[in-house]
Amino acid sequence: MLFGQKTHPLNFEYADHLTATENGLRVSGRSFHADICCHEITPFCTRLSFANGQVGDPCNHSDAIQTDYRDGRLIPPDIGQDQVSFAPSGGLITFGPSWFNMTLATGAVVATVREGFGYNGETFIAHFDIGDATGCYGFGERTRRFNKIDDSVDNWTVDVVAVFPHTFQRDDYDPSYAAIPLAIIKSGAHFTGLYFDNPGRTLFDVGKTHGGRLLYQSLRGNTQIYILTGPSLRQIVRHFTALTGRAELPSLWSLGYHQCRWSYENEAQIRDLQAQFAQHDIPVSALWYDIDYMDGYRLFTWNGERFPAPQALNQELKQAGIRTVAIIDPGVKREPGYTLYDSGIEAQVFCKTASGRDFVGRVWPGDTVFPDFTLARTQDWWAERLGDFLRDSALDGAWLDMNDPATGYSNPEDMRFADGTIEHDRYHNQYAHFMAKASHPACTRHAPDVRPFLLTRSACTGTQRYSALWTGDNVSSWEHLRMAIPCTLNLGLSGLAYNGPDVGGFLGDTQAELLVRWYQACFLFPFFRNHSARHSKRQEPWCFGEPCLSAVRDTIKTRYRLLPYLYACAFQHYLHGDPLLRPLLYDYEDKDFEHLDDQFLVGDALLVAPILTPAGTGQDIVIDGGKRQSRAVTLPPGRWYDLNKGLWLDGDRTLRYAAALDEIPLFAKENSIIPYYNGPLHNSLMDLGKIELHVFCEGRSSARGTVWIDDWETRRYTRGHFNSVDITARLDTDTWTITLTEQGHYPSGTVDFQPVFYGGPESARQAVLSTNGQRRARALQPASRPWISQWLTVLA
Ligand code: GLC
Repeated sequence: MLFGQKTHPLNFEYADHLTATENGLRVSGRSFHADICCHEITPFCTRLSFANGQVGDPCNHSDAIQTDYRDGRLIPPDIGQDQVSFAPSGGLITFGPSWFNMTLATGAVVATVREGFGYNGETFIAHFDIGDATGCYGFGERTRRFNKIDDSVDNWTVDVVAVFPHTFQRDDYDPSYAAIPLAIIKSGAHFTGLYFDNPGRTLFDVGKTHGGRLLYQSLRGNTQIYILTGPSLRQIVRHFTALTGRAELPSLWSLGYHQCRWSYENEAQIRDLQAQFAQHDIPVSALWYDIDYMDGYRLFTWNGERFPAPQALNQELKQAGIRTVAIIDPGVKREPGYTLYDSGIEAQVFCKTASGRDFVGRVWPGDTVFPDFTLARTQDWWAERLGDFLRDSALDGAWLDMNDPATGYSNPEDMRFADGTIEHDRYHNQYAHFMAKASHPACTRHAPDVRPFLLTRSACTGTQRYSALWTGDNVSSWEHLRMAIPCTLNLGLSGLAYNGPDVGGFLGDTQAELLVRWYQACFLFPFFRNHSARHSKRQEPWCFGEPCLSAVRDTIKTRYRLLPYLYACAFQHYLHGDPLLRPLLYDYEDKDFEHLDDQFLVGDALLVAPILTPAGTGQDIVIDGGKRQSRAVTLPPGRWYDLNKGLWLDGDRTLRYAAALDEIPLFAKENSIIPYYNGPLHNSLMDLGKIELHVFCEGRSSARGTVWIDDWETRRYTRGHFNSVDITARLDTDTWTITLTEQGHYPSGTVDFQPVFYGGPESARQAVLSTNGQRRARALQPASRPWISQWLTVLA
């Protein structure tokens, strides 16, 4: 298959005739006609539907938009001479026969060129003028740079390593495992979102072959274009995630550190791993089983010799605070006599070919058949079996792999859906999505109140409703480390906030320094897992000895300390759709940030600018006889607290920052309050009954933050079982006043909050803590903390 090849715009026909219809307009040319209508989905979202008379299967088949937002209000056409207009709340749209433009309520304009949309058989092109755009973001999981101006995007999910054997040398392959046709365009200070809802193969060219133009092509089916009003990036992401869904709140354990490898092959290796983590004093929240746990790669089985008692093992681990997750591929071994296969044949749940046979591919177990997850009967069949397997094995989650779908040498296009009636491309990009959708109820089948945990390799728009995502088979190289940041940032803007790469790199051998820098870059990523391939050098935290071990240990521990903060960010995502990791552009309007993709914000209070180059590459600085690798760090306006050096720094500038191997350039924003866990660390077992509030305020103004409290584990929060605690801190002469406004399900004071101050004059001697009006005064003392310096003070 030739990826990324587009049809030249001149090979399309553009309509020359326009007529009004009852619902909108019809445009026609020599070879086609298309019906267009307009819906207001919300005041901030307008949908234009283009129905091409030549499309064989006019049904959209996309599961991207949540059901509540699928209908919308039909906007009546206003008929003029040679033009038809629509006036939804979002702005004014005018159509000619082959062009349209929309002036949004914010003043931004979305406009095609004169020959702006057209057809070539089923293929559709829309050709936007983005001449004044300086940024383009979104598109889900992508390699290359964060800003997609001058880049192209192919939406066709693939098993990357199978399709691009050159991933070792390259960091620019496309397509990837996920397909999200979302373009967020920045013109001046305005952001506008264009979401192209077509689940089939779609291609974008963002000014790469035609400067100043955004070319969209869909190869099959009809496209609906959703136009999202900004003006800010934050508003676009909030609107888009309202439409396509937001992830559930993750359980606290799933936000911890995960350890994986292809494969930990037997019980002894798992126990050894547990012992090593304890011996090296490193917390771990989950251990993962890759394919070798199975009996001959048969789904829902364990190899009885290597894992004689998986349930007991997993329960024992859970007691020690270590959860377990097992890989689940979609491919079912085609083997009469194998219970799962037989039951699937009986229930008729597999994908078919055009000739009506069960489609056969070749994956780990050899010949395999594939559940057709689009069918309700398959979803039930799958959820029952996966649910029972998770319960019987005492597993805490499922890792959905090879669902791009990977079919080995077998051509996936022979795989059809709905008993062979629907062609492959309608569901190709959605295969993993429907697998995740079918797996989601399995997680709660025997434990209705447990928060599901699923991790998928492939995804499309909306998959965040069911699963987190990891970015597939990367390589242990500095290039792939660097690439992880723009990739996660664009995923977050595209709705898939819970994501992360294989820390350390999957393919190839990592080495000590690279491993440390990889941990440091990703230690606050929403999903944090070390994973490596069979035959690669082992890369668990202790594999390279000192100084790597200590640096990695400190990094992992710092994540655990910051879990209350990550959890607050997760709550923010659940409520509003804001990604946990964000580009600086999310919070700051600045032209200089349009291309910035080697540093990022975590929530709105922390900025991470990790070291992404090896020592000795010309950027090292010698301090006190020791070599430190340096990089440029851009601090947005305001003051920033340098958590390595314990210093306040002026923002609104770029500075050169040097960091030793065990240092992560990490900065806290002035006037923020960061919740911090300072109790004992024992894997995922954390008693969050006591949380420190780290107040970053120099005393000239006040600081604020919000903390969320619930049971960190169940779905009761969906029934209102949580508290929000709004916190402000203010300094008056020598007294800090911390005001907590706590409301919600739990009695106030369930969590004991202890303020810790960074900055403020030495004269500050005491703090008054006021919780819902009840006041307590306490004296202040200097603190000593390993991860931060002696500059801070805590309550005695
Ligand atoms: C695929 C996955 C990888 C996994 C391997 C074996 O390559 O992407 O994470 O380890 O299969 O299951």
